[in-house]
Amino acid sequence: MKDIQLWFRSVMDRLLGRKAKGKKAPAGPRSKPVLRSKHSASSEVAPGPPAVPNLDGKRWLTESLNADEAALVERIGESIASGKFELPHLPATTLALVNLAGKPGVDVTRVVELISSDPSLAGELLRVSNSVLYSTHVPASTLNEAVMRIGLRGLRTLIFSVSVKGTVMKMKDLSQYSKEVWRQAFSVATIARKIAPLLEIERERAFLIGLLHDVGKIALLAMLSKEMRRGTIVSPATVGRVFYTHHELAGSRLAEKWRLDAELVSIAGQHHNCKANQEYERGAALASLAHKLDLHMGFDDEASYRGLVRCPEFESLGISEGRRMAVLDQARRAYEEQESEAHAMAA
Ligand SMILES: [Fe+2]
Ligand SMILES: [Fe+2]
Repeated sequence: MKDIQLWFRSVMDRLLGRKAKGKKAPAGPRSKPVLRSKHSASSEVAPGPPAVPNLDGKRWLTESLNADEAALVERIGESIASGKFELPHLPATTLALVNLAGKPGVDVTRVVELISSDPSLAGELLRVSNSVLYSTHVPASTLNEAVMRIGLRGLRTLIFSVSVKGTVMKMKDLSQYSKEVWRQAFSVATIARKIAPLLEIERERAFLIGLLHDVGKIALLAMLSKEMRRGTIVSPATVGRVFYTHHELAGSRLAEKWRLDAELVSIAGQHHNCKANQEYERGAALASLAHKLDLHMGFDDEASYRGLVRCPEFESLGISEGRRMAVLDQARRAYEEQESEAHAMAA
């Protein structure tokens, strides 16, 4: 209920052009309103608040649907349950590169060769290796230097980032949702990577978990796009209901198709109730927590943000109450760093 009230208030604030009423952070990196606007240029999302509201909210269960919309939601649910639906593909080089980069003792020259065949990946690799995250005094000017700088683990996450972004942004029929799905995935991933050391989780692994936990939304966007091309009207309430009801099952199906590992498949299929994911409870809790941190920063309500120290994900992660505020602070810094990067690129 609190989420709904905060979301509604933030939407009204934006519509009326007034400043959100939350208590301002007294100090620290969270000093400007509407942190959702702060995303790196790599996300290619226009500055400003998201065009669509929280895509995971329970409110979508109670939003009324007309008969056609309800039939569409059911149809999509049946397709996913039966496994008879077309899943989006990742670019051909992605899996080859991810597998290659994951092999111990891999020949870096071979990795660089494969990257060279994908201009958008090559460009992004050079850009990221010279970003604030990795930069040193001497910029990387070749792909080989860039790979050495970010390391093979970092390279795998970068490959997934570029591929997922390309797959999502290709869906033009529902572009405002595609942009938000990508924005959210990238932001959650960045937060997850930043808070990972405090949770004793490997940083690049945390990034992948954040990036891919809601991958089911990509499969659902593809299905909804197909419906639109057939002339079906897809309302925001329909998108919300489809996402809320089906994104976890669709996520496990897509993660399997993309041959992600067992943990990523499991988390994509079960993360909102992280305790129910008995095998990978900590990973599921990381995904859910990072998502909540992203969502609540968008509300621009300091009390609500600080209230996240009580969220159950911390218990699943085994983080005592005294260590939780530090996690929230680190998540804020993740935004600051993205902002710095965007400034550096614009300069
Ligand atoms: Fe989710
Ligand atoms: Fe999520």
